[in-house]
Amino acid sequence: MIAILVGPPGSGKGTQAKVLTGKFGIPQISTGDMLRAAKAAGTLDPQYRAIMDAGGLVPDQAMIDLIDKRIDDADCKNGFLLDGFPRTVPQAEALERLLAGRSLTIDAVLQLDVARSLLEERLIHRRTDKRSGQIYHLVYNPPPPDAELEHRADDRPEAVGKRLDAYEAMTAALLPYYEAKGLLRRVDGVGKPEEVTARVLGALGRAHPEES
Ligand code: AP5
Repeated sequence: MIAILVGPPGSGKGTQAKVLTGKFGIPQISTGDMLRAAKAAGTLDPQYRAIMDAGGLVPDQAMIDLIDKRIDDADCKNGFLLDGFPRTVPQAEALERLLAGRSLTIDAVLQLDVARSLLEERLIHRRTDKRSGQIYHLVYNPPPPDAELEHRADDRPEAVGKRLDAYEAMTAALLPYYEAKGLLRRVDGVGKPEEVTARVLGALGRAHPEES
């Protein structure tokens, strides 16, 4: 299965991706995680680092090159779940070319729908455990006392507004693009994470009736 999670920052893409990858035995490919890993390793282009920290989008071609390499890894042989890519129509068109070159197609695009007023609150209180990668929320899903917590640079209030604006300006254009292809499934992203998971699975079941 090849599926894409689309949604604004804080809509729960990473939270849901972690559950789905366990369930389907396919990897999560998060361009945000890949960029943060390169940043932590000191190998990220300083220009991209500044763009990320300020809440902007890294240039399309850099992201396309990253995905082009990643989807050839052995763990992708049964499919993968894209989280945070594509984010623009040029990225979506490039993805289609990359997949067509490998005789692959997209099964479903899942749009997590959450109102902007809830997103800021989710992002500002998000913390991630450095060791496990587990995502927490200081109020709704508090971390255990022994977690080694990280606060993302782009989760500071001044960057959060810019990320939400970038989503509305660039990424929202993906929705009509995938709707026209009959791939888009809208999922209400509000409620307990496990309730959202049940809706996501329902939407995937509609994309794969034989698996439901
Ligand atoms: P990326 O890492 O992809 O960030 P994002 O899209 O902004 O999404 P987030 O990771 O912030 O949110 P999420 O939807 O995964 O939510 P989460 O599950 O963590 O990208 C970071 C940056 O990298 C970009 O800004 C850009 O600069 C660059 N980049 C990456 N890909 C790119 C691309 N393709 N092109 C160009 N640039 C790119 O949940 C958020 C919080 O809410 C958590 O605290 C969680 O516990 C909580 N939560 C989750 N679900 C629920 C729920 N149901 N109820 C209550 N709380 C919940």
